Amino acid sequence: MKILAIESSCDETAASVVEDGKRVISNVISSQISEHKKTGGVVPEVAAREHMKFIVPVVKKAMEGLSWDEIDAIAVTKTPGLVGSLVVGQSAASALALAHDKPLIEVNHIHGHLYSNWLDSEDEPEFPALVLTVSGGHSDLFLMHGHGDFEQLGGTKDDAAGEAFDKVARMLGMDYPGGPAIEKAALKGNKEFVKFPRAQMQGYDYSFSGLKTAVLYYLRDHEDEMTDGFKNDVAASFQEAICDSLVGKAVKALKNYDVKEVHMAGGCSANGRLREILQDRLPEGVKFRHPAKISYCTDNAAMIAAVAFYLR
Ligand code: KG4
Ligand code: ZN
Repeated sequence: MKILAIESSCDETAASVVEDGKRVISNVISSQISEHKKTGGVVPEVAAREHMKFIVPVVKKAMEGLSWDEIDAIAVTKTPGLVGSLVVGQSAASALALAHDKPLIEVNHIHGHLYSNWLDSEDEPEFPALVLTVSGGHSDLFLMHGHGDFEQLGGTKDDAAGEAFDKVARMLGMDYPGGPAIEKAALKGNKEFVKFPRAQMQGYDYSFSGLKTAVLYYLRDHEDEMTDGFKNDVAASFQEAICDSLVGKAVKALKNYDVKEVHMAGGCSANGRLREILQDRLPEGVKFRHPAKISYCTDNAAMIAAVAFYLR
């Protein structure tokens, strides 16, 4: 079964055709990063207008070499996201479904991230699986008992992890999006340079605003030391603190729940250090997965096609 999916919840205009929830036939992503670099973050009005510009060419490109007869259904992100951005994808998907007489499947963006680990996978992931979804808009810990059977164990009480990466990068004078910039700087830095705080939250919840403020105060108190080497050390220390907090809760969950697999998803799951720490702390016999490609970590439509296939 081939599904054409559209994703436009934030700042990527994306369309993809995926067969049987796993085999990616096309995956087109038009990123607005250069637009949002100017403001250091996403301006909703600008994002919506960019989606309007790119939605038609992106869908056309995703359909290259395919005929509408081959498409069995159309999927689209319904929520959560920026309303002005979501409405562009939803209008396009509804119009295409109507014009080509295809069923329309509306899905949840975060559930899409949960299914990004199915893309290009050779085997079928096994349940129960613990999934850490970390991105610019959400940081959650889910237990997947089966397809569509998601139990949310915890989530962030304030900033999402990606948002903290983006804000700290901005404080350090680095480009948007901050995650890749911090990761690159951290490779050259000393992760033990500063011991930033790890918030002690109840249960499986996260909080990153205290860490963000700690970095802000640290930089304010050391404003005369802003050399590249200093920035690399602060980036490495911040990255270590945030990864440690994220992984800490996942490891706590593993003590209380018997799972077969641990998955990571969302934009921050592209982070090599986060992958490394999580993998190192997993008990023997628990399989670790992260999305097969970096383009499946950050927002994309292939994951929307995957979740639509399994939950249709
Ligand atoms: O999943 P995503 O594309 O959008 C949302 O659903 O929010 O995630 C974007 C976030 C940004 O905050 C970005 O800084 C972060 O993912 N990110 C990373 C890395 N690549 C992207 N964070 C840490 N390390 C990375 N390599
Ligand atoms: Zn996302």
